[in-house]
Amino acid sequence: MIKSLVRAYHELSKRDLRVLRVIEVGHRRYEFVPEELITKWARYRREEVLDSIRRLHYYGFLRRNLAPYKGWKITALGYDVLALHTLRVQRKVVKISPTPIGIGKESVVYAGETPSGYKVAIKFHRGGVSAFRYEEPFRSKVARYKHLAEVFETRLSALAEFFALQRVFEGGGLVPEPLTYNRHVVVMGYVEGVELYRLSQGDFKKIADDVILTLGVALRLGIVHGDLSPYNIIVGNRSYVIDWPQWVPLGYNNYELHLQRDLNNIAKFFKRYQVEIPVDELLKTAREAEDSGGKFLLEINKTTFL
Ligand SMILES: Nc1ncnc2c1ncn2[C@@H]1O[C@H](COP(=O)(O)OP(=O)(O)O)[C@@H](O)[C@H]1O
Ligand SMILES: [Mg+2]
Repeated sequence: MIKSLVRAYHELSKRDLRVLRVIEVGHRRYEFVPEELITKWARYRREEVLDSIRRLHYYGFLRRNLAPYKGWKITALGYDVLALHTLRVQRKVVKISPTPIGIGKESVVYAGETPSGYKVAIKFHRGGVSAFRYEEPFRSKVARYKHLAEVFETRLSALAEFFALQRVFEGGGLVPEPLTYNRHVVVMGYVEGVELYRLSQGDFKKIADDVILTLGVALRLGIVHGDLSPYNIIVGNRSYVIDWPQWVPLGYNNYELHLQRDLNNIAKFFKRYQVEIPVDELLKTAREAEDSGGKFLLEINKTTFL
């Protein structure tokens, strides 16, 4: 089995992609989509469809089930291919790096390019980390499509990340520019630089000022990052805060815990370099904006997933 997303993507024919898309639609009703139905729906000759299924399976985009009937299920890699294909067809992305530039605990990130030559990061979400997965509209959706729970959770992660990036970016915070999202994938501006945790020398005061600026913008909008650490700060000419899918709205359950942890993490890090983070001031900013988080729940909960 070949498990390289990009290499395999370029091997796929129009027909292979069509068959994969048919199976995706079939998942609305089946966890394993019956092979009989796939051959019926795909509008190709039966042997051709079976040949595509074989290829998709070989590349790791499908899982097979034999009993009580022969059926097929799309893997995480298969959804990656569908999202990548949509982004290419929509001309949001025209190039993608052959291998990932970052493999985090909850995602796989590739470098890419838009038609105008703008360098982007393409983030394929792997985990369900959004606070909004505990909200009723999402839970009832997942209850209706139990077999798609994981798929929906990764999509919610992407949506939540895109949502926060958009607001903080527009508010003037230093975050990657959000360009678009599809399924569980977010496309954003590529940030040149090195993660803060790798940095042993530099102007730490200047870096801290950038981070404080971005935190201030986010908090005033009602957004708590929720996983702030030197791993999620990229230092170039300016310093950018990345990795936002787990953000929580101010005022939301336990948000103080997340906020306190974020602030402790960076305060502790910068203290090593004799740079102080104005924790109390940021907490005050948060208290003053506490009411602004609630509206996000309504906005996110209104969004549909399929
Ligand atoms: N916009 C970006 N520009 C450049 N590199 C990025 C960008 N976004 C992510 N990366 C790289 O990918 C890694 C993982 O991305 P991140 O958003 O932190 O996801 P995870 O939740 O998996 O940690 C980062 O540590 C970084 O090296
Ligand atoms: Mg990260």
